[in-house]
Amino acid sequence: MPEIIPSILVKTKEELLQKIMAVEPHVERVHLDIADGIFVPNMTIIGFEEIEELDTNLKIGVHLMVSKPENHIVRWLETPADKFIFHIEATTKAQEVIDAAKETDNAIGIALNPQTPVSKIEPLIDQVDFVHFMTVEPGFYGGEFVESVVEKIKDFHYYYPDKPIEVDGGITLETAPKLIEAGVEMLVVGSYIWESEDIGKAIEKMKTHV
Ligand code: DX5
Ligand code: ZN
Repeated sequence: MPEIIPSILVKTKEELLQKIMAVEPHVERVHLDIADGIFVPNMTIIGFEEIEELDTNLKIGVHLMVSKPENHIVRWLETPADKFIFHIEATTKAQEVIDAAKETDNAIGIALNPQTPVSKIEPLIDQVDFVHFMTVEPGFYGGEFVESVVEKIKDFHYYYPDKPIEVDGGITLETAPKLIEAGVEMLVVGSYIWESEDIGKAIEKMKTHV
């Protein structure tokens, strides 16, 4: 069964608390989207202080949609989050980001935008815990699912069958099954969950539908 991970992309601490409380009874982990207005044309909460003040049992993964993640990662590694994702398109210092994370017990994953080929991360694949495939252009809830990523994931899974795969963006009851078939283990899900009438039921339905 795939892991369903709700995504939290918010501009205020109040919205963060509200979303944390809404999913807390239903999942073990959330995905916190951090956008800097530079790498993507949207801005979220800064994030690290907000999560340090949270009182929750949820595990937190952080998706750094920020330019030059090497300048951010060290501060993030001090927070209670235990999983980090950075973009290959955002840095020339990917090795530095990975090395910083590897000095800790946290998981590190590298993200690829829909049009970025796997060849861009080839030398790094062995060093990361998972690969995060964007299935929308990053930055917002409700982006359009980019169908061609399914083939990219299938190819990747053929060459790297043991490397865990996460997808993020436009995940619905329609797109999830083909991604699972392509080899995906972790589904990051935004609008499908937040627009559902019953979050618990929506998550269960996605788990069993794929
Ligand atoms: C998009 C973010 C995603 C987003 C997913 O840039 O990285 O995590 O919140 O939301 P949906 O599922 O609405 O595409
Ligand atoms: Zn995300």
